[in-house]
Amino acid sequence: MGVQEQYPFDVEAIRDDFPILQRSVGGDPETPGEGPGDDTPLVYLDNAATTHTPEPVVEAMSDYYRTYNSNVHRGIHQLSQEASVAYEKAHDTVAEFIGASGREEIVFTKNTTEAMNLVAYAWGLEELGPGDNVVLSEMEHHASLVTWQQIGKRTGAEVRFIEVTEDGRLDMADAATKIDDDTEMVSVVHVSNTLGTINPIRELADLAHDHDSLIFADAAQSVPNRPVDVADLDVDFLAFSGHKMAGPTGIGVLYGREAVLDAMSPYLYGGDMIRRVTFEDSTWEDLPWKFEAGTPSIAEGIGLAAAVEYVEEVGRDRIEAHERLLAEYAYEELEALGGVEIYGPPADERGGLVAFNVDGVHAHDLSSILNDYGVAIRAGDHCTQPLHEKMGVAASARASFYVYNTVEEVDALVDAVADARDLFA
Ligand SMILES: Cc1ncc(COP(=O)(O)O)c(C=O)c1O
Repeated sequence: MGVQEQYPFDVEAIRDDFPILQRSVGGDPETPGEGPGDDTPLVYLDNAATTHTPEPVVEAMSDYYRTYNSNVHRGIHQLSQEASVAYEKAHDTVAEFIGASGREEIVFTKNTTEAMNLVAYAWGLEELGPGDNVVLSEMEHHASLVTWQQIGKRTGAEVRFIEVTEDGRLDMADAATKIDDDTEMVSVVHVSNTLGTINPIRELADLAHDHDSLIFADAAQSVPNRPVDVADLDVDFLAFSGHKMAGPTGIGVLYGREAVLDAMSPYLYGGDMIRRVTFEDSTWEDLPWKFEAGTPSIAEGIGLAAAVEYVEEVGRDRIEAHERLLAEYAYEELEALGGVEIYGPPADERGGLVAFNVDGVHAHDLSSILNDYGVAIRAGDHCTQPLHEKMGVAASARASFYVYNTVEEVDALVDAVADARDLFA
C-alpha cells in the first residue's frame, strides 16, 4: 500500500482550510508577492516552530474584533459580557481538551515559556532553597532549562539533568538515581523538539510523587499532535502554546493541579487578579484569574478555543498517526540518501519531526538552499544548545510535520537535500 493510501484523513480537504498553503515563495521578502521570482510553491516543514492557522480560527478571532470586541471581566455592558463569556468558556474548552477538572486549573499565558516562568517564579522562588534539587533532562528546551537554571542560582537549589542515551532516549535508570528525597520539582519535556523522543511522563510522575516531588511536563510538542490527558499522566503542571497547534501566537496554557495553584502566590500583580484592594493590602481573585493580571489576550484566547475545536474535529489520534507516517517516511528516505545523520530514536518511536545533518553541509547552508526550493525547515540549535553540544554538533536541520503535510512534500524535501549534498560534494 502506498504511503498516501495510509493517510488517516483527507489531507487535501484539510489543506483547503489553510489559505497560506496556496501561496508561493521566492521573491523579495521586503515586497512579497510583487517582484519576479515569487513563483515557487511553498513546502512548509517548520511546524515544530509554528503551525499555520485554519480558517475557523481566523474567523473566530475576526468575529470577536468585528462584532463583540471589548474588555473582559470588567463591564456590565453587553459587549463586555459577551467577550467575558467567550473568553472564560475558552478556558473550559481547553480544560476538557486536556482532561483538567475545570477552568480553575487552566491559566492562559503568553506561551509555554511564560507558563514555565510563572511556576518558576511563583512556586520556585518561594519553595526552593539550598539542599533541594530540581530534576530536568538533557533534552530540555531552553524555556525550561534556562528558567530552572536561573531559579536554581537564585535559590541555591541544585539543578540536575537526567542523561540522554546514545540513541536519544531518556535514561530511566539515571532518572531513578537523580530523583531523590530532596527533589522538589521534576520538569521534563514530553516530546523532544530536537530528537522527537516521546518521554515516559507517567513513569516519571510516579517516580517524582514517590519522592513527594511535583512534576511539570513541557507539552509544547505533544498537545498539538497526540491525545494528552493530565489525569492519565498524573502531572502537577503542564504547558503548551497555541501557535504550535493551529492556534494564534500570543496565547499559551499553564495547567496546574488546583490544590497546587491554590497554594501559590500570584506571579504578576495588578488589575483583574484582585478581589479587594486597600492602601495597606490586597486579596486575590479565584483561580485561574489570580494568575491572569491585566487585560489578557482576549482574541487569542478565543482563537485558541477554536483551534482546540479544529484539532478535536480532525482527531488527535489521527493527527498522531499522520505525523508518524510522514516522520517514518522522511526518516527512511533521508537515511537512504547516504551521508545524512539523523538524531534521536528510530523512525517508529518518534514524534512528527526529524532533525539531521548532511555530511559536509552546514545546517544553515542547507536551510538556505532548501529555501530556494521553497522548502521551509529550521536550522540551528532549536533552543537545545547543551543537547547539541552533547550530540557533538553546533546546529542541525529540522523538518517537522503537521496535519496538512503530504508525502509529496517529504519527497520535495528529500530531493532538495540530495541536490544540496551533491552541490557541496
Ligand atoms: C519543547 C518545547 N518547549 C517549549 C517551547 C517554547 O515555546 P514558546 O516559544 O511558544 O514559548 C518550544 C518551542 O519551540 C518547544 O518546542
